[in-house]
Amino acid sequence: MSDLMQRTLVLLKPDAVQRRLMGQLIARFEAKGLNIVAMKMLKVTPEMAKKHYAEHVEKPFYPSLESFITSAPIVAMAIDGLDVIKVVRDMLGATSGLNAAAGTIRGDFSSSRQMNLVHASDGAEAAKRELKIYFDDSEFCRYEPVLTPFMR
Ligand code: PPS
Repeated sequence: MSDLMQRTLVLLKPDAVQRRLMGQLIARFEAKGLNIVAMKMLKVTPEMAKKHYAEHVEKPFYPSLESFITSAPIVAMAIDGLDVIKVVRDMLGATSGLNAAAGTIRGDFSSSRQMNLVHASDGAEAAKRELKIYFDDSEFCRYEPVLTPFMR
């Protein structure tokens, strides 16, 4: 992959699944011209949650975060694209839906800091680490996208 071509981990969290927003949210990433190269629905275990949110495990909100992220299925996706780590974070908006700008996913669909619908890796190191929690290397499907006119 070139310097700007990156892969990131995106999770549609339990609230996205339970609110039946999966299709609308996936459509945003596709409309943006990003490539979903792996996708699965699963239930996060407490062990996976502790690995994923390792930097937050000691924080007061962690028990509530673990209970939420393990409460219902999630959809995990690996997404490829140019500068995709920043592009996806920008698409999500601020962590709390209350502060997220209108037009972002959280700004448009969430009013919560915990139930903020989507997680995305916040940097290259995090992406590498987090992708390993959800996917084996053999699960990434590379393919040539058809370019739509706005991407040329
Ligand atoms: S921090 O430490 O607050 O700056 O972390 P932040 O990057 O904002 O958030 C990291 C993830 O923790 C979740 N979070 C919370 N959950 C429940 N309660 C509270 N108070 C809370 N604060 C942060 C937040 O939804 C982030 O989840 P992800 O999956 O990374 O978006």
